[in-house]
Amino acid sequence: MTDYTNKVVFVAGGTSGINLGIAEAFARAGAKVAVLSRRQEKVDAATARLRAIGGEARGFAADVRDYEAVSAALAATAADWGPLDVIISGAAGNFLSLAADLSANAFKSVVDIDLLGTFNVLKASWPHLRKPGATLLSITAAQSWLPTPLQIHVCAAKAGIDQVTRTLAMEWGGAGVRVNAIAPGPIADTEGMSRLAPTSTAQQAWTDSVPLKRYGTKQDISRAALWLCSEQASFITGVVLSVDGGVALGGSSAMTRAMSL
Ligand code: COA
Ligand code: NAP
Repeated sequence: MTDYTNKVVFVAGGTSGINLGIAEAFARAGAKVAVLSRRQEKVDAATARLRAIGGEARGFAADVRDYEAVSAALAATAADWGPLDVIISGAAGNFLSLAADLSANAFKSVVDIDLLGTFNVLKASWPHLRKPGATLLSITAAQSWLPTPLQIHVCAAKAGIDQVTRTLAMEWGGAGVRVNAIAPGPIADTEGMSRLAPTSTAQQAWTDSVPLKRYGTKQDISRAALWLCSEQASFITGVVLSVDGGVALGGSSAMTRAMSL
């Protein structure tokens, strides 16, 4: 396993699901890990789990849509632990809705959490990053390049995250900061898949649509995150890495079929 002893890692949206799996993996690899999400009880539970792994952990109850709150959390983490080595931006919202049924506020809510939230987290991290050496990683999805009915809000938000990733990779590469994204496929035991595939029929359709014929695990994603943020990936920046069992190869039609059941 990649060694992150004494590295400082900040995970926005790191209190459940895929992002908590990533936070825990960094903690097991020796990092000091800070997590941020809206609900205090989730923050407390996540920091307790991280401390149980054995390392230092801290948590912040804040909304990624609130730039000042995000900025204060990053500043407090750096003040306590020193320059930040890894920033993960994974907070997101999702639900199924046809565009015709979606209110402007519902569209805005998801774009604000996913896209504006990612901008806020990455931009606010800049003064506190280890330069050179820091790595930023956003969690996107195949909806960013595959148009997907019932997902117009997510498609728009995640497409924006991909371009934020590529643009920051160009602007911040000169400072020795790498900026990448991971696009997970369907991951078992997550809030995201409980919303996208609420029935066993839909779950089977998703499984069938994955060339590797299974849902991914949180560990599939955390392993890729640890690698992509490490020295082993030191010449990789500006990429969106699919960690999805090949599901995106099926294109929009496979995603749409699974999503519509
Ligand atoms: N279908 C259609 N519209 C929905 C909806 C749904 N299932 N759920 C919420 N909305 C609408 C609301 O009606 C509201 O619009 P309105 O003001 O026009 O009525 C708008 O979205 C905002 O809802 P609100 O509950 O105030 O938003 P929030 O900021 O508190 O929560 C969500 C954001 C809606 C994305 C919420 O589902 C959430 O917090 N999700 C986080 C967890 C998650 O989605 N995990 C999976 C990640 S892939
Ligand atoms: P999840 O458990 O719901 O994780 C979302 C996290 O973000 C939670 O910690 C949540 O905690 C936090 N959050 C939500 N809104 C926030 C806000 N406004 N401000 C701060 N924190 C906020 O979902 P998941 O399914 O594991 O998804 C994690 C990431 O993977 C997302 O980016 C998602 O788009 C991506 N993804 C998931 C799948 C999948 O199969 N699940 C597939 C592709 C991509 P609070 O409620 O406390 O705020």
